Amino acid sequence: MNTKRILVTGGLGFIGSNFIEMALERGYNVTNVDKVTYAARDDISFSKHPNYTFIREDISDLKSLPSGIEYIVNFAAESHVDNSLAANVVFFRSNVQGVYNLLDLIRAKDKKDRPTLIHISTDEVYGDLLQGSAAETDALHPSSPYSATKAAADQLVFGWGRSYGIKYRICRSGNNYGYGQFAEKLIPRTIKLALKDQKMILHGDGSYTREWMQVQDNCEGIFLVMEKGEDGEVYNISTNEEHSNLEVVEIIHDVMGMPKDFYTFVENRPGQDLRYSVNSSKIRALGWKPKHTLREYLPEYIRLCQIRNSTGGGSKAERFFLGLIKGR
Ligand SMILES: NC(=O)c1ccc[n+]([C@@H]2O[C@H](COP(=O)([O-])OP(=O)(O)OC[C@H]3O[C@@H](n4cnc5c(N)ncnc54)[C@H](O)[C@@H]3O)[C@@H](O)[C@H]2O)c1
Repeated sequence: MNTKRILVTGGLGFIGSNFIEMALERGYNVTNVDKVTYAARDDISFSKHPNYTFIREDISDLKSLPSGIEYIVNFAAESHVDNSLAANVVFFRSNVQGVYNLLDLIRAKDKKDRPTLIHISTDEVYGDLLQGSAAETDALHPSSPYSATKAAADQLVFGWGRSYGIKYRICRSGNNYGYGQFAEKLIPRTIKLALKDQKMILHGDGSYTREWMQVQDNCEGIFLVMEKGEDGEVYNISTNEEHSNLEVVEIIHDVMGMPKDFYTFVENRPGQDLRYSVNSSKIRALGWKPKHTLREYLPEYIRLCQIRNSTGGGSKAERFFLGLIKGR
């Protein structure tokens, strides 16, 4: 059994909480640093696990790193593009200053005691591509305050890596879906509205396309990068399952037995990014491949949310999602 100690940041969030669940199952000892923003889950299953420690802290304010940590997996971030358009300062603080602080905390340690940083970035740093797929070596062209702060963080990681010999690996994935995602995002929001018999609202004409990936598939990729990846490398993680926002909404409605066209359109958001796609051959060469597709996974996802809520075990995200509490 594995007994390596890892520090996970943002581990109460959607992807981080799924990652910690899997890390504990794999025998890792996990310390989780999370500021507990609105996006943090309150229904995590592992809070009393003997190999789990929680520290409530902002990564920008963290004063030291626990000793004996082999890897830091940095999920902590403000993650919603719409929020970044409305109020961007917190994005700068968490996504840029937070990463700066982690890098300098690593630098402050003796070289032999320094953990390797597994930094979780996004496909959005490449900017939108009308055709083809971005390779890890492509230049960064972010188009929203969210993706600009994520790209800035990647650049800090490169600079600290080269100048101070900080060991790092960067993961860039497409859009994730799965249990524990806050209801502001496209898929849970569509389901929430459908359950309340309300139409989904789409920006522009809904033709903007993304690559979609089940969250545990992404976490498997991140584990592979942590366990078998090389220092100083970037890894795209992507299914190449590409759907427009409109197609995603239609698939959900179809799976739920609703009319496919149960949506309305609103004005496009500023800087709307048309299409993201990344080439994932590098991580596939390490042995990774996705196990899920959106259409196959959706019934399980909807069932999980309903069961957990009917037994009172759902998170605040899903209580909101099912219309049981008010929220954004
Ligand atoms: N969700 C996606 O589809 C997706 C796709 C590509 C990349 N990513 C990246 O993956 C990471 C995780 O995304 P997510 O969807 O799980 O996000 P999330 O919004 O669901 O969760 C973020 C978590 O980080 C915590 N957090 C935020 N700021 C913090 C800070 N300053 N200090 C400590 N904790 C803080 C929050 O409390 C929350 O628990 C992010 O870095 C995001 O940019 C997400």
